[in-house]
Amino acid sequence: MDFSAINIRYGELATTECCLSCGGAINYAKPKSGEVCVDLGSGRGTDVLRMADEVGETGFVYGIDISEGMLEKARQNAAKFEMKNVRFVQCELDKIELADGIADLVISNCTINHATDKEAVWSEIYRILKKGGRFVVSDIYSTSPIPAEYHNDPVAVAECWAGAITRDEYINTLAKAGFTGIEVIEESKPYLKGKAEVASLTIAGKKPLGGCCCSR
Ligand SMILES: C[S@@+](CC[C@H](N)C(=O)[O-])C[C@H]1O[C@@H](n2cnc3c(N)ncnc32)[C@H](O)[C@@H]1O
Repeated sequence: MDFSAINIRYGELATTECCLSCGGAINYAKPKSGEVCVDLGSGRGTDVLRMADEVGETGFVYGIDISEGMLEKARQNAAKFEMKNVRFVQCELDKIELADGIADLVISNCTINHATDKEAVWSEIYRILKKGGRFVVSDIYSTSPIPAEYHNDPVAVAECWAGAITRDEYINTLAKAGFTGIEVIEESKPYLKGKAEVASLTIAGKKPLGGCCCSR
């Protein structure tokens, strides 16, 4: 994938105070002491630092992002607060450079809509979660399919709207990846963003503990 539009947009936004979130995943995630957590699209590192505080010295939090500017800002913020139990990793959402079954909790806020191959991203989330691990993700969906001319435009995708898929596609993708207990926790009314009508949702689910009837 060509990340130049994402790198330009998020490189510029890294040094601003502008809100980049579209929901409250972090408020529902409830990390516990000693847990290993991952934030996909960690931006300036705000949610990573909050989770690092909550999991304490026996836990650990990874922030995943592709933007050099965001990673630099996140590392500066971690150093400022002397957080030792965090690491920021530069990689793509659909090729997460973390080991299988490493995480108790994966969160993400307003990021997965940017990914071209959402099935690959959810398959990666499944892979890095422990059995019985959970995700809480805030993201946007479109109320109708985004026309290809925008969906394939990297600049429009970087603006956080053109990469969106519909609500049904979103939920089907999670189920196809193998998650269970899928629950929409909060959802906004539709609103206009760029050239599309979108809505925000926060959705949670679990990787099954496993058993004879589970195919993965
Ligand atoms: C809208 S910002 C959200 C940042 C943060 N989660 C927050 O709520 O403040 C999206 C972030 O995802 C990152 N990102 C976008 N597409 C990505 C991809 N394919 N792989 C990794 N990171 C990506 C961007 O660099 C940016 O930091």
